[in-house]
Amino acid sequence: MKMKMKMLHCVLIATVIGITNGNEIKGIYWVEQPLFPPSAINTSLFTHVYYAFLVPNNTTYQLHVSNTTATTLATFTATLSPAVSTLLSISGANADASVFATIASDAAARASFINSTIAVARTFGFHGVDLDWEFPRTASQMGDMGKLFAEWRAAISAEAAATRRKPLLLSAAVYYAVDYFLSETTSLRYPVDSINDNLDWVNVMSYDLNGPWSNRTGPPSGLFDPRSNLSVGFGLGSWIRAGVRPNKVVMGLPLYGRTWQLRDPSVHGIGAPAVGPGPGSDGAMAFFQVLEFNNQTGANVVYDDETASVYSYSGSYWVGYDDPVTVTVKIGFAQARSLRGYFFWAAGLDTSDWKISTQALNAWISCINDYGGVK
Ligand SMILES: *[C@@H]1O[C@H](CO)[C@@H](O)[C@H](O)[C@H]1NC(C)=O
Ligand SMILES: *[C@@H]1O[C@H](CO)[C@@H](O)[C@H](O)[C@H]1NC(C)=O
Ligand SMILES: *[C@@H]1O[C@H](CO)[C@@H](O)[C@H](O)[C@H]1NC(C)=O
Ligand SMILES: *[C@@H]1O[C@H](CO)[C@@H](O)[C@H](O)[C@H]1NC(C)=O
Ligand SMILES: *[C@@H]1O[C@H](CO)[C@@H](O)[C@H](O)[C@H]1NC(C)=O
Ligand SMILES: *[C@@H]1O[C@H](CO)[C@@H](O)[C@H](O)[C@H]1NC(C)=O
Ligand SMILES: *[C@@H]1O[C@H](CO)[C@@H](O)[C@H](O)[C@H]1NC(C)=O
Ligand SMILES: *[C@@H]1O[C@H](CO)[C@@H](O)[C@H](O)[C@H]1NC(C)=O
Repeated sequence: MKMKMKMLHCVLIATVIGITNGNEIKGIYWVEQPLFPPSAINTSLFTHVYYAFLVPNNTTYQLHVSNTTATTLATFTATLSPAVSTLLSISGANADASVFATIASDAAARASFINSTIAVARTFGFHGVDLDWEFPRTASQMGDMGKLFAEWRAAISAEAAATRRKPLLLSAAVYYAVDYFLSETTSLRYPVDSINDNLDWVNVMSYDLNGPWSNRTGPPSGLFDPRSNLSVGFGLGSWIRAGVRPNKVVMGLPLYGRTWQLRDPSVHGIGAPAVGPGPGSDGAMAFFQVLEFNNQTGANVVYDDETASVYSYSGSYWVGYDDPVTVTVKIGFAQARSLRGYFFWAAGLDTSDWKISTQALNAWISCINDYGGVK
């Protein structure tokens, strides 16, 4: 009886605040780095870890796995499973997007590609596959992407039935908003119906919204922006308004900041004129490096309520980033919108004691059963 009451209580709270219980996503991408082996990932902080990336061959449209890569893939899944689910992520920001335009446009190429992704995922013990095509650039490419997802889902279901195994998960990393902007006036909508029908969820890349490529400072991943649509809240809202079910939407969180060099060190707010990137490689700094920068330079740290973001500045350098506080606010927003969860880019960029990842885990409210599991 006591147990029942507790469960009811939990369900009520969950219903009122719209929590998707038990199958929330707390993901992180891992990029091969010699100094950050998969064994360094604290798996109690995550539910899903993505291997980034494999890229299809541009003539066979299949994933060709070299012996070195085979060792890395096998080590990755063996190290992390069964504590977390592993997904094989394909393509990525540095891959040639035109290869995907070709693959998605042609039935034989799609079949060849899909077949190889399932084979590689199964061979190396992954639980799913993830597509990071950055980005479809025409309306017909968006349509082709929808076809690709439908055929991929059909192949995954057929393979699961034939082998009597749990179907592979299928997800995709997508633009921060449902309309991919080609210019200020032209945009392309993602294939919403196909996403609802065929993907387990989308990883919305709710970051890199401002950066040193612009001549004014701004939050790289601000929750709000009263002056523009370049905000996490606008982007996530656009996915929902377009009809993607909230439980298919996973919010992206950056474990890095973007840096600028100020034009005038005495003008250092959001929107301050800047002349280019500040410290860090290409104007990006891992969260742990931002803390080092703040400490070493005695930087001023400012929480901006209007954008729910944090920035720091010292001399002519300016850094916009996320920290445990801003991530907590964003997770509250995501849960209020009944989203499925969050993911981070990327492992190795948090502090060595996982400050942001730990805070995110604790901030996401879920109903815990008597055995410490999630109902
Ligand atoms: C991993 O994270 C959990 C949850 O925060 C924590 O209890 C544990 O100490 C961490 N393990 C390591 C090795 O840091
Ligand atoms: C793609 O595969 C073909 C056939 O196996 C091979 O000849 C070619 O070198 C590969 N291309 C790249 C860029 O690896
Ligand atoms: C495939 O990739 C190779 C290596 O990047 C490049 O030289 C070649 O032109 C590409 N072929 C096609 C058909 O895109
Ligand atoms: C890759 O591994 C296979 C099987 O273990 C082996 O036959 C092949 O010679 C290896 N290839 C290279 C280039 O090392
Ligand atoms: C991929 O194609 C091969 C050769 O046609 C076939 O044997 C295999 O079953 C296919 N795999 C999947 C997952 O469809
Ligand atoms: C900053 O960029 C905007 C838009 O690209 C441009 O209109 C403006 O002139 C630039 N301002 C400076 C100070 O470079
Ligand atoms: C933001 O998006 C909305 C809805 O798509 C649009 O009506 C509005 O003009 C956009 N605002 C700006 C500042 O671009
Ligand atoms: C900050 O820097 C000082 C020395 O400059 C060092 O002693 C201290 O441990 C640092 N604190 C943190 C939190 O990194």
